[in-house]
Amino acid sequence: MDRDTLKQRAAHAAADMVEAGMLVGLGTGSTASHAIRRLGQRFRDGLRFTGVPTSEASSRLARSFGIPLIESPSDTPIDMTIDGADEIGEADLSLIKGMGGALLREKIVAVTSKWLVIIADETKLAPRLSGRVPIPVEIVAFGWESTRARLAVLGCRTVLKRDAQGEAMRTDGGNLILHCQFDALPDPAAVERTLSMVVGVVETGLFLGLAKTALVASEAGVRRIDR
Ligand code: A5P
Repeated sequence: MDRDTLKQRAAHAAADMVEAGMLVGLGTGSTASHAIRRLGQRFRDGLRFTGVPTSEASSRLARSFGIPLIESPSDTPIDMTIDGADEIGEADLSLIKGMGGALLREKIVAVTSKWLVIIADETKLAPRLSGRVPIPVEIVAFGWESTRARLAVLGCRTVLKRDAQGEAMRTDGGNLILHCQFDALPDPAAVERTLSMVVGVVETGLFLGLAKTALVASEAGVRRIDR
């Protein structure tokens, strides 16, 4: 079974947990897109709910199915958010997210959510966050090279995220993304605190203490992990 089929299975399992009347956070990325498409089918079949998209791309996809949206979350808690991840630490469901470039809106939606459900294929799962994938860090464009230098001092190798044309990728908020690679990640909370304090950093792709459920698909089926 290919990875995309596994992503789809996890996504469908999560989308099928949405109930009528819910306010639902809609994640970003290939796995989350499968969930939005499944929710679109369920909407067309009569399920009524409201979505809160985490990116312009997810907003467009949801709108193509006619799903009603709140484009910017208010202080009303979101009942359930379905989103992907780049690495999931099984021990405490800590996450690295944002390789798709949407981490800031994803984190705002995540912290506004009562129930963050992460969907992934099994390649994303590790016993604990290992740092095998870089940590995406959203930074302001102004003086970005000076911000990169401050991050490099912390011991991470940085790569600027580029679009298909090779240009620096701008996030929906007009910022830039640096992928920060550490040799190891023994204390993600300390790294999160340190990165967040760097002047020019808007938000990091470390999502700690936020996910309550992960649905992880493998050949054997979709495994549910709750925290
Ligand atoms: C988007 O910014 C990310 O947080 C994605 O959720 C994450 O990169 C996983 O992406 P895929 O589902 O495409 O693997």
